[in-house]
Amino acid sequence: MIWEQLENYDALSGRAAKILLEAIRVNPRSVLGLPTGRTPIGMYKRVVEDCGAVHVMPTHHCFRDVTTFNLDEYVGIPHDHEGSYAAYMRHKLFEHVDVDPARTHIPDGNALDPGVECDRYEKEIRDAGGIDLTFLGLGRNGHIGFNEPGTPFDSRTRVVALTESTRSANAPHFPDGPVPTAAITMGIGTILESRRIVLLASGSGKQDAIARLRSRDISTAFPASALWMHENVHVLVA
Ligand code: GLP
Repeated sequence: MIWEQLENYDALSGRAAKILLEAIRVNPRSVLGLPTGRTPIGMYKRVVEDCGAVHVMPTHHCFRDVTTFNLDEYVGIPHDHEGSYAAYMRHKLFEHVDVDPARTHIPDGNALDPGVECDRYEKEIRDAGGIDLTFLGLGRNGHIGFNEPGTPFDSRTRVVALTESTRSANAPHFPDGPVPTAAITMGIGTILESRRIVLLASGSGKQDAIARLRSRDISTAFPASALWMHENVHVLVA
């Protein structure tokens, strides 16, 4: 596990964006795993700035041949709902770069049978050849995606109930309606199959979680500790 301390959130965002852009420059057909939440917003902003600049040059492509898989999505929320992670991704990244919408994947939380949707999502990842590089945020309790403490390390994409604290944290995104009670998330096993992982953690609220991760105490009580079992993880801290 490589640890890199950045001076502040801005520097962390720039560093993360550089890693993403370098990966798709080296392999324009990269398959990326992408997070939502507050932490990666700066990274997406930097990526958009950079890709927007090369976008006007017809010989340069940024995301044209890139495939993306998001980590999670709420259950019961259609992708056109502004509170959905699909809307987040459109606004923060997809609408601003030359990505092919057909190559962007987010679990369909509004699927008739969410269990079937989870299996379909796993198959889509396999059919794409697996994920080359996944970016992760870090929950205060160590969650990654929506894999809360207690999640087995070999878990796959599945439906999970949201904890009360997660629901209240997300309530502002659902001003007019009920806050979702469940989500579809890649499992920890799914995440660990990504060939490379970059974890982003920033802010005073994350310092305890960062310290716990650094302690290398590998336990399902702290989901992010599973990353110690992966050979290519880069942690960016600010
Ligand atoms: C949510 C998301 C996670 C995210 C985490 C931290 O629960 N499902 O994928 O990493 O919260 O979010 P933030 O970056 O806003 O602190």
